[in-house]
Amino acid sequence: MQLDNVRHIGVLGGGVMGGGIAQILAIAGYEVTIRDLTQQILDDTKAEIEDRKWGMKRSVEKGKLGFDQAVSAMARIGYTAELKDLAQCDFVIEAVPEKLELKQKVFVELDETIKKEAILVSNTSGFAIADVVASVSASRKPLCAGMHFSNPVPVMRMCEVIHTPETSQTTVDTVRGVAEKAGRAVSMVKDAPGTYGFILNRVFAAAAREARKIVEDGLATPEDVDKAMITGRNWPAGFFGSRGGIGKQW
Ligand SMILES: NC(=O)c1ccc[n+]([C@@H]2O[C@H](COP(=O)([O-])OP(=O)(O)OC[C@H]3O[C@@H](n4cnc5c(N)ncnc54)[C@H](O)[C@@H]3O)[C@@H](O)[C@H]2O)c1
Repeated sequence: MQLDNVRHIGVLGGGVMGGGIAQILAIAGYEVTIRDLTQQILDDTKAEIEDRKWGMKRSVEKGKLGFDQAVSAMARIGYTAELKDLAQCDFVIEAVPEKLELKQKVFVELDETIKKEAILVSNTSGFAIADVVASVSASRKPLCAGMHFSNPVPVMRMCEVIHTPETSQTTVDTVRGVAEKAGRAVSMVKDAPGTYGFILNRVFAAAAREARKIVEDGLATPEDVDKAMITGRNWPAGFFGSRGGIGKQW
């Protein structure tokens, strides 16, 4: 699937990540269909996208999004509890909870439901893409990749694009192109079965391990570790959730 042929994107799971992903893709001009389990969840997803903290109405109020742009982006998003409504999508992003068996199951269901040439990606935080796609058909594997966004999606510009040895170059180019069209800064990363996480979470986990060790060894308090990272590296928050006693401006 070439980038220019991607018009309609499906998002499986309209939670914290799926809603944000749908929002930025609709603003980028894509037709988007979100599939979740119940109408009640979908109503909540719609409220999140349109009315809540990172939603489109707030973006209009802050002058970050035009009124007409927001209205047309909202109209481009469809909500459904039926998997079959993703059948005509050119590209589907899976954003269901971080359980490997669930992801493997929905990948098989999607493989059987969507067009044979459609791209299928996972927003997993860290399962190897090879494991997530383990049971899809051989013809789908070149069309599978990872697309790891960061929360809150409308605010955080990062997207890691993860590719396996089986991901085709066309798929890599298209996934990257979709992310860039949606205003993301793309980092490419190879899939690494046997590890958990890609760039962002692995680097963060290593730093968090050191922070915990400094505290466990009695070298500094959690507050002082947080204060050092907030004031010395401009981090918006510390590892331990404290502000290091430096006031509400942080
Ligand atoms: N929350 C984060 O900060 C964050 C950041 C990056 C990546 N991720 C990853 O994104 C994925 C989703 O995380 P989230 O925080 O959005 O979870 P979430 O629990 O907020 O949302 C998941 C949604 O999937 C729905 N769902 C469950 N089974 C489904 C099915 N079979 N079909 C359709 N929808 C189904 C749930 O009803 C729920 O609305 C996870 O893999 C997570 O690791 C999360």
